[in-house]
Amino acid sequence: MQRFASSTRDVPPALAVPRHVAIIMDGNGRWAKKHLLPRFAGHRRGVQTVRTMVRCCLERGIEYLTLFAFSSENWRRPQDEVSLLMQLFVRVLKEEVRKLDRNGVRLRVIGDLARFEPDLQALIDASEQRTAANSRLVLTIAANYGGRWDILQATRRMLLANPERRGDWDEADLTPHLAMSYAPEPDLFIRTGGEQRISNFLLWQLAYSELYFTEVLWPEFDALAFDAALAWYRQRERRFGRTSEQLLSAPPASAPATGPRVDA
Ligand code: IPE
Ligand code: IPE
Ligand code: MG
Repeated sequence: MQRFASSTRDVPPALAVPRHVAIIMDGNGRWAKKHLLPRFAGHRRGVQTVRTMVRCCLERGIEYLTLFAFSSENWRRPQDEVSLLMQLFVRVLKEEVRKLDRNGVRLRVIGDLARFEPDLQALIDASEQRTAANSRLVLTIAANYGGRWDILQATRRMLLANPERRGDWDEADLTPHLAMSYAPEPDLFIRTGGEQRISNFLLWQLAYSELYFTEVLWPEFDALAFDAALAWYRQRERRFGRTSEQLLSAPPASAPATGPRVDA
């Protein structure tokens, strides 16, 4: 498997256009309330923004788009809303996969999928397989995903893969087992809807991502709002622990792996 730069062990390249954008799509319920509609209308409307974002990423040469669709804590919502969200997920998968495939988009779904109905699991599987050969854009949907779940399941799999080993673990031992090991860490994180929190999204992978928060509600987030986030991103000085002076005097180079080893 391809090994991507780790933000703590290497200095990832600083690029004007992010390679990987990860988004918490928040504010559907408040958008619906504002329009005197049921919450579900907001979720349905939010799907339009997903289509817009996929198009934007294709046009701008962004390679990975990751969307938080349902968190491991969203099961706490009223049963009706959860079940409508599941139905919407099924419908969107069925309707959109052909178009994604035509546009060279590879679809991947991360999260604890075992909790979903078998029909939905099969549909996810089929959609991933259908688009598996595509590489223009990797669209990841995080569903029943939690950052803590991810770190735990990766740890469990790392230990299973190395039954004889004791201690002396390195982060490179763990990262191949994370749900998104097929992608570089997000360069840019966006959360719509005004809240400034991570809500158990990609805890490990966001270590050095640029965090962008906007008041715009997800159903109203559009190409213009996305470009504003990209413009903000371009202005950031990504130091990865170094000083500004170091950045000015030396062009970005890949530094040797200097991360500490962790002894168990
Ligand atoms: C995000 O919108 C969508 C999901 C979590 C599924 P919300 O439903 O959280 O919208 P608000 O935060 O209530 O406005
Ligand atoms: C985060 O949104 C999860 C998704 C967008 C899927 P929430 O609306 O569930 O987050 P909190 O509860 O406000 O932190
Ligand atoms: Mg919310």
